[in-house]
Amino acid sequence: MAKVPVTVARGDGIGPEIMDATLHILKAAGAELEYDFVNLGEKVFKSGIMNGIEPAAWESIRRTRLLFKAPITTPQGGGYKSVNVTMRKAFGQFANVRPVRTFDGFVHSKHANVDMVIVRENEESLYAGIEYRQTRDTCHAVKLISRTGTELIVRYAFEYARANGRKKVTCLIKDNIMKVTDGLFHQVFQLIGAEYPDIQKDSLIVDIGMARIADTPEKFDVIVTENLYGDIVSDIASQVAGSVGLAGSMNIGTGCAMFEAVHGSAPDISGKGIANPSGLINAAVLMLYHIGQGECAAKIGNALLYTLESGQHTADIVKKGEKALSTMEFAEAVVKNLGKSPKNLTPFASGSGKPVKLPRAEDTTQSVRTKRLTGVDVFIDFDDADAADLGKRLNQCGLSSLMLQSVSSRGMEMFNPKKPDVKPDVDAVTDLWACRFMGPEGDITNADIRAILHNIEAAGLEWVKIENLYTFDHVAGFSGKGAE
Ligand code: NAI
Ligand code: MG
Repeated sequence: MAKVPVTVARGDGIGPEIMDATLHILKAAGAELEYDFVNLGEKVFKSGIMNGIEPAAWESIRRTRLLFKAPITTPQGGGYKSVNVTMRKAFGQFANVRPVRTFDGFVHSKHANVDMVIVRENEESLYAGIEYRQTRDTCHAVKLISRTGTELIVRYAFEYARANGRKKVTCLIKDNIMKVTDGLFHQVFQLIGAEYPDIQKDSLIVDIGMARIADTPEKFDVIVTENLYGDIVSDIASQVAGSVGLAGSMNIGTGCAMFEAVHGSAPDISGKGIANPSGLINAAVLMLYHIGQGECAAKIGNALLYTLESGQHTADIVKKGEKALSTMEFAEAVVKNLGKSPKNLTPFASGSGKPVKLPRAEDTTQSVRTKRLTGVDVFIDFDDADAADLGKRLNQCGLSSLMLQSVSSRGMEMFNPKKPDVKPDVDAVTDLWACRFMGPEGDITNADIRAILHNIEAAGLEWVKIENLYTFDHVAGFSGKGAE
């Protein structure tokens, strides 16, 4: 097998100690890797490079597209940028992957037999942090979901499942409420999922899904979800499993995949040779699966589990009265156990032996045949609670081709021009009003919208933003009235 080039950063604090231990195991296990060592972290930050990545590291990562990284220390204050955030942006790392498992019998956890992997979309959703404040009272955030981004993450989740010998992928969404955004995510999950008949599929509404993960985590396998849900569910799952200290994680991108332990550089114990290398070893296992060296991955993973099971532990998890192994002694123990499998813990499967196939961003949106502009929501800053007054004034602003259909606040209709004297059951409490104008004949034009905005201004009202209302192949691309 040809050796796979990989960029290695030994990191700060305990980084070099656990990296040396891990490389020792990789060598003994026969991993086909060729290392290119670079500097990331403290030294680089201190040389004045604000993102902590030296020029040679960029070159190396661009070449190998694989980064195996020990934890680094981010200096406090002073405008330093997180290496991980820089990497995520520079290399389009669309997936954050976090395996969560229990080590029953030696790391305390509330549940047993947990062995799941959370595949979190990393670039979109509410977590993209696109936010606005346009009135005194209200702020809003944009939840951006693209078909392309969703296809990437969903396809990755299925490819990951296949390459790692996993059986089921569960999608977490809230499409009963967010029919457009989460609806798209769910629809793409079902569409792409159909291409993987060998993998079971399951979708859960995110709240009950998370409740079940907290209650019966052992029933989950691979989970794929949007950015914010993924952030939350990763923490719930790790907490439930109680093994954060031993976990590895990876960020997968079109430009570079990055593998690391979940923990930091532990400056309090650095230089003592007592750190637990298991988190980084697990990250190495993830990397080997990723590049198709599944057999070697399983060999190392199972030797690690066997070692842990047999009571050989580093100081952080050693049982009372037992002798703690040093970082290197632990690595030696793992090396001695290569070829052995755990007796109680769920063993690692050797998977397909093929590298995880990285999906390409493909433009599948061309299958949409018709896109039609059918209306507009004009948002008005109006801090008087009299919805009928606002509604009647806006009604005058309509055109024969684009008429007021409703005025709502926080998604609730407060005025309907067909029933102008019916009072809403609730009072308006905010100053942001969504005023929906629809074309009675169907299609409208941008010129109609400009005319409406002009009329609104002439009526002395302040519009703060608009959202155009389109249909795609006759399906409404917006929520609320007129969408059904
Ligand atoms: P930390 O994870 O480094 O340490 C938290 C506690 O866990 C400490 O008591 C430490 O001794 C212990 N610990 C961590 N890893 C251990 C191991 N392998 N074996 C035994 N004990 C271990 O988190 P902390 O203290 O918040 O951060 C320290 C530094 O690490 C900071 O500069 C932080 O920015 C950085 N960090 C880097 C990360 C990365 O490179 N991906 C991730 C998290 C933190
Ligand atoms: Mg988080």
